[in-house]
Amino acid sequence: MCGIVGFTGKQPVKDVLIEGLAKLEYRGYDSAGVAIEQSGALEVIRRRGNVSGLAHTLGHFDLEGTCGIAHTRWATHGRPTETNAHPHLSCDGRIAVVHNGIIENFVELREELARRGHDLASDTDTEVIAHLIEEEVKGIEKEGDFDSMSPDDFVRAVSRALSRLVGSYALAVISSAVPGVIVAARKDSPLIIGSAPAGSCVASDIIAILDHTRDVFALEDGQIAKLAESGFEVYAAGDGECVPIEFELVHVDWNMDIAEKGGYSDFLLKEIHEQPRVIRDTLAGRIVNGSIVIDELDLTSEELNLIDRINIIACGTSYHAGLIAKNLIEGYARIPTEVEVASEFRYRNPIITPTTLVVAVSQSGETADTLAAIRDARVKGAKVFGITNVLGSPVARESDGVIYTKANKEISVASTKSFLGQVTSLTLLALLLAQSRGELTTGQVKMLFRELGDTAAKVEEILADTSAIDQAAASCADASSALFIGRGQGAAVAHEGALKLKEISYLHAESYPAGEMKHGPIALINEGFPVIAIATDSPTYDKVVSNLKEAQARGAKIVAIATEGDEQIRSIAEHVIYIPKVRDAFSPILASVPLQLFARAIALLRGCDVDQPRNLAKSVTVE
Ligand code: AGP
Repeated sequence: MCGIVGFTGKQPVKDVLIEGLAKLEYRGYDSAGVAIEQSGALEVIRRRGNVSGLAHTLGHFDLEGTCGIAHTRWATHGRPTETNAHPHLSCDGRIAVVHNGIIENFVELREELARRGHDLASDTDTEVIAHLIEEEVKGIEKEGDFDSMSPDDFVRAVSRALSRLVGSYALAVISSAVPGVIVAARKDSPLIIGSAPAGSCVASDIIAILDHTRDVFALEDGQIAKLAESGFEVYAAGDGECVPIEFELVHVDWNMDIAEKGGYSDFLLKEIHEQPRVIRDTLAGRIVNGSIVIDELDLTSEELNLIDRINIIACGTSYHAGLIAKNLIEGYARIPTEVEVASEFRYRNPIITPTTLVVAVSQSGETADTLAAIRDARVKGAKVFGITNVLGSPVARESDGVIYTKANKEISVASTKSFLGQVTSLTLLALLLAQSRGELTTGQVKMLFRELGDTAAKVEEILADTSAIDQAAASCADASSALFIGRGQGAAVAHEGALKLKEISYLHAESYPAGEMKHGPIALINEGFPVIAIATDSPTYDKVVSNLKEAQARGAKIVAIATEGDEQIRSIAEHVIYIPKVRDAFSPILASVPLQLFARAIALLRGCDVDQPRNLAKSVTVE
């Protein structure tokens, strides 16, 4: 959570910072701020709300400074107020800090600082960092050598202050005493440093600095960087001391188009439409001579065949991809598979042995709970396989093997294309395991792989005509609650459909396996209550129809996702959204797409921001 950007160079930095922050808003957007060196002092401007609000405010200021840092916040400690917005300052206002992460011992540090006379203005954990650095600069006992501080002294002061912190951080610090220098450091939160012709830059994500540089270095845990107009240096920090280290810049040739809407009205719609491409890219090169190939798994077939249990760990939408995968892995490979939200798994002492394969699924690759679960599983001796969308992300780095979902950058907070990338990747994993263990023949694998590939064109068919989806959405948009039901793969899709609706339209939604209706949720149903059913062609289709008749008898407004050619469903459902015929195992890839569009249409009718829903952030880097 939270996005950081900083730049020091020859030209005024205000617009560079605002443009960078705008690209980082997916990390949080409840407040934003900048600190810019200006005539020997730090000019700090912060405000509640998103980056465009801050940009508007900055328009009233004449800021020509060429070195500055900026932040967009997702609140953890302290409400999303202007006072709690970053950057945070030291007592005398000569140090400014922006931070992403959580300082776990901030309460004791605050008390300690208060005892020594520091006056902390905010409720945040971050503010203690500015004050600790100030103390290190001045020396706790003796007063003031701020004015004689060199850039190297500044780096040392930051390093010493950081040695007092417990927790995670990516941070950037400037001081009016050392013009033109930014000190950046990280532990367990991402930070990229870039070398640009016009100066040096730092950001939480490369996307924020790509307009200025393509030569970057991803700072590692425990490293500190000193950025100046002429370039940057990197140090290994230990016990408060810093040792310069060699580093290599990586040249990035990303296309900036990925961060643009490409003609769509919002990123969500653009990303929904990218899904056929994601399926194709995820499958490209994954079958050779009838055998599924996932070299990244880095397990021999003997090791694959020793796996006797799979634990899938994930959060949110990624967890729902895991539910779908459980059905595929158990169905095809016959390996007992559990799916669990990472925040539960990590605190539960689960049974993990060296023959357990743990599959960690995370779009961002930096979800704190998923990472903690990975670490726990590895300590217990399990092999961990990551499925993520972000190259070099912590999940990728900390797993024994990794599949990238090929979704490319997902900007909208609601996961769509990354979800289909995850489901496709997990399907490949199920096929690989099944083939390796002799549960599927080469002929069967070839056929299934072809059908899996065909889903891309079928998703295109769904996207080509959304009129039935829009009509259903219009008739449900005023509801105050909705129930999503399905069985088998349909139950997993129902969970994802309800989450999508909740998170972008703020319409309350519940999801249940359809067979559970009579055990409680059916009491919700009265005249006009929306029931969204996944009633596609499957072995339990008749059971779902029976459940829908029960809902119909109680006045429910039924929206059914059904398979083309199903006429029977028309007599039960007020709205039928047809999807092309597909094998039940792969039906989530198709059935989830109309539910994404349904949620988006309702959100727009309710006047919601579909790319930046309230209270959420794209990367959940705190537990
Ligand atoms: C998805 O629409 C949500 N925004 C959210 O549930 C997300 O899937 C979850 O936070 C997990 O994120 P990850 O995949 O990056 O780990």
